[in-house]
Amino acid sequence: MSEAGLKLVQGGYGGLRGWIDQVERMGELKRVNGASWDTEMGAITHMLTEHSHGTGPALLFDDIPGYPKGFRTLYGHFSSVRRVALTLGLPLERERKVDIVKQYYDRIQTMKHMPPRYVKDGPILENVIQGDDIDVLKFPVPRHHEADKARYIGTANCVITQDPDAGWFNLGCYRNQVYDAKRIGCQITEGKHGRIHRDKYFERGEKMKVVVLVGQDPLLFMLAASPLPEGISELDFAGGLRGEPIDVIRGPYTGFPIPADAEIAIEAEAVPGQVLEEGPFGEWMGYYSDDTVARPYLDIKTILHRNNPILTCAPQHKPVDETGLLKGIAGSAQIWRSLEACGLPDILGVWNHEAGPATRFTVIQIKQRYPGHARNVLHVACSCQGGAYAGKWTVVVDDDIDAGDLDQVLWAMCTRFDPMTDIDLVQKAWASKRDPLYLPGNFNNRILIDACIPYDKYLKGTFPPVVDVSPKLRGDIKAKFPQLFS
Ligand SMILES: Cc1cc2nc3c(=O)[nH]c(=O)nc-3n(C[C@H](O)[C@H](O)[C@H](O)COP(=O)(O)O)c2cc1C
Repeated sequence: MSEAGLKLVQGGYGGLRGWIDQVERMGELKRVNGASWDTEMGAITHMLTEHSHGTGPALLFDDIPGYPKGFRTLYGHFSSVRRVALTLGLPLERERKVDIVKQYYDRIQTMKHMPPRYVKDGPILENVIQGDDIDVLKFPVPRHHEADKARYIGTANCVITQDPDAGWFNLGCYRNQVYDAKRIGCQITEGKHGRIHRDKYFERGEKMKVVVLVGQDPLLFMLAASPLPEGISELDFAGGLRGEPIDVIRGPYTGFPIPADAEIAIEAEAVPGQVLEEGPFGEWMGYYSDDTVARPYLDIKTILHRNNPILTCAPQHKPVDETGLLKGIAGSAQIWRSLEACGLPDILGVWNHEAGPATRFTVIQIKQRYPGHARNVLHVACSCQGGAYAGKWTVVVDDDIDAGDLDQVLWAMCTRFDPMTDIDLVQKAWASKRDPLYLPGNFNNRILIDACIPYDKYLKGTFPPVVDVSPKLRGDIKAKFPQLFS
């Protein structure tokens, strides 16, 4: 559908429900009735996403056996670039998918962060459940894959924690296993902001209050899963992107800001020393590589939810999963920010390839300006906050190679790269235990590939010319034979 046909209300699309309406009008929503919470919703999403090449639908499940009609789940938020664009308030169409990264990056460079606006009431207060009535399984919580042992209420979620020193609120997407009606897990990897907050409380022997959103505006989910810098609240960042503050109520137990239009919010606390076995869970690298480990869990104090709530979900699995583009776009913009902050000139494109996944295969496109430019770019991209976590391959290519087009990237790696001189290795980097090859101590090694034309040859024009069709001839041909290219 045309952009003009989209009705963007002030401050965006109007929360999760407005987003679903817009996605339906774009022709990208599938409604499914009757699928079970027990692996069926997960399998359907997996099967419709894995080979979709950026065209997978969003899926709204209803009539889930054992649950009242209207208690729905949403899967597949971001398996199309157009839906990522809708969420970020960017134009829906573009020539190359990688261009969305530059558009997003430009937007975050110019916007002003806006703190949330506290309001007294909102749909999230339609149901407030406390005490004996608390039961997280009143929602159709899925078991995503056959080898998962438990149901996970939090996958497309936002875990809100507060820094005990500086007071800022972080939103991170960290998974939540269900143990029973009143206890859920919260797996936060070392180095993530929520983990640093928790470590600070626990070092002082204090409990940590938490809010877990498990149904919310897709923008908040996207930002919670993005590597924003330390000290920046995703709520302020979302307000900045929207151009309008996010309306929040104060959580009755925690006092934390909770988006007034959220679908489901769980107030809870983690207690030092209280742990339960967590996992196994099919993870984002595509393996069950993260052993079952005793981890701190959350005691639930309050559940808030809207009438007919929508639980948001995002199963992880071997590529491509529904978060490949999310990580590709949001992570790439943060890498771009760091490259420019380090003063590196002429960055033309950054793309974390969906099959990587996340930062496992990052490509940066540059116009070479000086000898060593390509190597500078590689080292910053693999070590900056947006690129450092669990990376594996970082590749730099010239300005004529589209960073988002794997065919072109492979061609550059096969013709402009020398295995003796164009590789650097980085050892003992920030790893993830989701990596089947993580090293003792939870480090990993990674590889940097300079697939640019050697700079001296580039400068002197002595590298062989490329066999191609010139832009002029392309234009002439398209004008003369439009029927061939429509
Ligand atoms: C669907 C999905 C699930 C995720 N699950 C986890 C998780 O369980 N634990 C974790 O530490 N990171 C998880 N991540 C990655 C973090 O959300 C991501 O690293 C984010 O930047 C963390 O926020 P922070 O930078 O504020 O710590 C997940 C990401 C996605 C998209």
